[in-house]
Order: sequence, then structure tokens, then C-alpha cells
Amino acid sequence: MVYAVYLTPAREDPFMTSHQLATTAQGHGDPTEATLDNPPSPDSMTAVVQHAYGLDAIENSERPVPTAGPGQLRIKVAASALNPMDWHLATGTPGIVRLAEGFRRPKHQILGREVCGVVDQLGSGVDDFEVGQSVFGWVTGAFAEYTIAKANRIWLAPTTMTEVECAALPIAGTAALEAIELGDVRGQRVIVNGASGGVGHYAVQIAKARGAAWVAGVCSSGNADFVRGLGADQIVEYESADFTAERWDAIIDCIGNRSGSEIRGALVDDGRWVVVGDQNTSGLLGPLPRLLARLVRWRFGSQSCHWFVQGEEVRYLEEIASLVDEGLVRSHLSDTLSIGDLRSGYDRIESGHTVGKLAVDVASAPGVASNEPSNDVGVTP
Ligand SMILES: NC(=O)c1ccc[n+]([C@@H]2O[C@H](COP(=O)([O-])OP(=O)(O)OC[C@H]3O[C@@H](n4cnc5c(N)ncnc54)[C@H](OP(=O)(O)O)[C@@H]3O)[C@@H](O)[C@H]2O)c1
Repeated sequence: MVYAVYLTPAREDPFMTSHQLATTAQGHGDPTEATLDNPPSPDSMTAVVQHAYGLDAIENSERPVPTAGPGQLRIKVAASALNPMDWHLATGTPGIVRLAEGFRRPKHQILGREVCGVVDQLGSGVDDFEVGQSVFGWVTGAFAEYTIAKANRIWLAPTTMTEVECAALPIAGTAALEAIELGDVRGQRVIVNGASGGVGHYAVQIAKARGAAWVAGVCSSGNADFVRGLGADQIVEYESADFTAERWDAIIDCIGNRSGSEIRGALVDDGRWVVVGDQNTSGLLGPLPRLLARLVRWRFGSQSCHWFVQGEEVRYLEEIASLVDEGLVRSHLSDTLSIGDLRSGYDRIESGHTVGKLAVDVASAPGVASNEPSNDVGVTP
């Protein structure tokens, strides 16, 4: 149990610096009020940072260990994952990304936006979590030994998955959940465009779990067996077949490579097009003008077009954790990178051909103190 570490003498804490050992021995350690909820912490940690936009600016660095403020908690990071969003944030493209993330340089210098790990410090006003709990969710700065989370952006980790598998869920898994919800799939004929990718592979599983009558997946021939293994009833190999040649009740579109009129022709009269991603990510505004235009054009007629920017609602974390523990959803990892090897991960994301998820094992990176045991039961399919 993680509690044991915090209740044992200071010299047994593997994360304590010599300074803390000395000051704690004198009775005035840092923090001065080290308690079960706020245990003593190390001074510095390994983090993957970026001082300027561009993949060449990514480097490993020592950073001060952050402290949880009001409404926040600190997580000792076990794992994270890479998404197309991480590539956009790291490169500052399309330009509109910089509106939120900093014009000249990234506002959040520590990279990584999703996490699974163990709560190791509670800020004031956080009553819903306890130190030692295994949690997952959205953060800024997950590629580091410790990160800070808002209490309303995390949830208890599923118990039937490893921490590395769990870390892949918050962005792609909940985006898939939101898309399937918008697609209103129960009893329907559904197709997932981009079924072998991060979002798509969860979307196929969730569509089946949510009672879709027929789930098809669009992928390359090389990934057909993988997508079939997720439970897809039909495979459309994009090199040789065109998914718009058939009609669907809902199209979950993770690729965004077809025009609105092609999609209209592939939907039944009251069909739903759920746009998760779009291939146009260049220029200042990326896909935004096209998406906004669709909002206007698709207001007329019985077919509908939906797109969303992930709202980070904790109910999605709760729901995906349940689906995992019910045995209905798994994370399929094409690879697990260490934080010393992230640059290659960004290159792979940029290629647009990763299969399932690219995970990042933070806890077992060289130079990073190993994590405490969690409630993880370590089931890897
Ligand atoms: N709206 C939101 O809030 C939200 C949230 C998360 C993600 N997203 C967006 O959703 C999109 C998908 O994300 P992701 O994490 O799933 O990306 P990803 O994992 O990088 O997707 C890669 C997959 O796409 C497949 N693919 C590439 N071209 C294809 C094509 N023409 N037809 C069918 N499949 C194709 C690849 O398979 P092959 O190698 O076989 O080609 C690969 O398996 C991205 O644009 C991302 O930014 C949006």
C-alpha cells in the first residue's frame, strides 16, 4: 500500500532528497506539515519540456516538483499517452492552437495531456479523493514524474487494466464515447472511419457495447484483422472499397477525408455524421472554417452533422472506466515508449498511421523512481 511509505521513517521514502532527509530529521521538513494527505515530496523531477514550438525543441529537463493548490491534487505519474493533439500542441499548428497555448512559445512547458497514476498530495478543499488512490484523467504536464490535476478532471482508474493501458483512455477513449453518444447508435447501422486509430478502435468497441445493430470499420487491408478483432461486423478496406457506396444510420468520422455531399449520399434520411477529426490541419485556422460552414449547411434537412471539442466532463471518465471493468472495452497499445524516447513517438503520430494507442511509460523510465503499487491488477490482453 502506498500509505505505508508515508507512515514509515523518512529515510525509507525513496523519493526524499538528502536535504529533506536532513530537515525532516531536525523536525522541520518541507512541507513543514507533512501528513498522510500531504506527505513530504522530493525537490525535483524529470520532465519532458519544450521552450519553443517545434519537435526539435523537445527535451528532458529537471523541474521542481509541483504542489497541489486549492481544488487540485498531485499525481505521481505512472503513464501517459500520445495523441494527434500532442503533436498539434508541440508544433503550434494550426495557428489557432497558439491562441489558447501561447503565441510565441508554449504556455505549458511540460508536455503530456493525459495521465494514470497515484494520488500523492491533496490540495485544500479536495474531499473526494484520498492519497494512494489510482486515478486517471486530463492534465497539463503528464510527461513528468509528478503532475497536478484539477479534482474535477480525474476519476478512479478502472481496476482491470494496467496503468499504461489506462493512461490511453482519457483523450481517445472519452472522445470515442462522446462520438458514439452523438451518433445515437443503439439498434443502428454504424460505420467508424479510421477504425484502427486511437479514437476509432475505442469507437468500434463502444458502439458494440452500446447496442449498435451492425458496426463496420474503415481501415487499410493491413489492419483489417485488428479491427475485426475489436468486434467489427464488417471491414471496408479503404484502398479497394468506398464506404460512401453504402448507406449508414451513423458515420463516426475520425479521418474527415470525405466531402459533405459524399457523406450526405451515404447517410439514411435521418442519419448522423459525427465528425471527430479532420484531415485539414494546416494554415491559421485548420479545419475551423469548414466545420463552422457545416454547422450552417447541415441545419437544413433531416440528416445531421455533429462535431465537438472534447469537453473534459468527468462523467465520460466514469463511464469509460465502467465499460472497461465490465469487460467491454480494452486499450490496444501498438507500442509503449519511455519518456527518453518521445521524439520518435511524435514522428509516428505525425505519420497518421499508428494502430491503437501509443502509450508512454513514465514510471519505469531510466532515472525515474519507480511508482508505488496501485490498485492495478495488471491484466494485459
Ligand atoms: N474532437 C475531439 O475532441 C477529438 C478528440 C480526440 C481526437 N480528435 C481527432 O480525431 C482524429 C483521430 O484521432 P486518433 O487519435 O484516432 O488518430 P490516430 O490514432 O493518429 O489515427 C491513425 C489511424 O488512422 C488510420 N487512417 C489513416 N488514413 C486513413 C483513411 N484514409 N481511412 C481510414 N483510416 C485511416 C490509420 O490507419 P492506416 O495506417 O491503416 O491508414 C491509423 O490507424 C484526429 O484528427 C484527432 O485530432 C478529436
